[in-house]
Amino acid sequence: MPEKNTKIRKALLPAAGLGTRFLPATKASPKEMLPIVDKPLIEYAVEEAEACGIEEFVIITGKNKRAIEDHFDIAYKLENTLRDKGQVELLEAINRHRNSDFAYIRQGEPLGLGHAISCARPFVKDEPVAILLSDDIIPPGESLLKDMIGLYEETGGPVIALMRVPPEELHRYGVIKGTELREGVYEITDLVEKPAPEDAPSDLAIIGRYILTPDIFEMLDGLSPGSGGEIQLTDALMALAGRRKVYGLIFGGTRYDAGDKLGFLKATVDFALANGALAEGFKKYLFSTVEALNSQRGAKVDK
Ligand code: G1P
Repeated sequence: MPEKNTKIRKALLPAAGLGTRFLPATKASPKEMLPIVDKPLIEYAVEEAEACGIEEFVIITGKNKRAIEDHFDIAYKLENTLRDKGQVELLEAINRHRNSDFAYIRQGEPLGLGHAISCARPFVKDEPVAILLSDDIIPPGESLLKDMIGLYEETGGPVIALMRVPPEELHRYGVIKGTELREGVYEITDLVEKPAPEDAPSDLAIIGRYILTPDIFEMLDGLSPGSGGEIQLTDALMALAGRRKVYGLIFGGTRYDAGDKLGFLKATVDFALANGALAEGFKKYLFSTVEALNSQRGAKVDK
């Protein structure tokens, strides 16, 4: 059974990373503010959590991240202008998160995901929290976070989202080993951050969604740097799994790694195709592009 203070009311959104995979775009602007169609990456994560009833957000930021705070703040001048012009839909679009509270903590140095999470300790105290990494985009129709909260409510233990990934991609993730308790639900027995191909304990990779209990902070306390010289959340979870049951939930739906250029482009294409105002024009463009690509391919084969 869950412990006291069981309801998941808060989400932590780590956003202090340097965004090196997107340089030069992220030299002066936060990676989390890169847009998929018309919304920044981090707003998709906020909406995903809001859909699960979460209304308190703690965003862990760093240098060059002020735009995130401005994005979730009230913009009086802009609002007045839109109101005067009768642009009601846009007004609504910039006001979507009025019912949520946002707090910001700065991580002075980018010392890793585990360190970023430990910076939020004073805000979290003794509550369980959801953690969402905004690089990982989960489309609105998916129920991953709801299902994770459901598993947490059933077991009272931490829950990590997992996906099966091809062997050549495992080195980009935290990878787990576990015992299957029922279809799609694992008890985790081992975790390795960014393993070399021969060290990966399975093909089950951690994706950026976690429900964590407050005892994770004790595990993070005094943890030595791990993979890449950073304080790794994966290592703290390994220590936690030595003390209590930690669960993994396999996600079989769609997820985009928008922190990667190719994943970002795939998300952009799919979200544009699902956008009522854009879909038709964009489809036309895609068809003509695909036709041109096919005829290029045909020309090559003919040679
Ligand atoms: C982080 C975690 C890793 C996890 C990944 C999911 O890595 O450390 O365990 O698999 O997120 O996106 P990062 O991508 O920040 O290097």
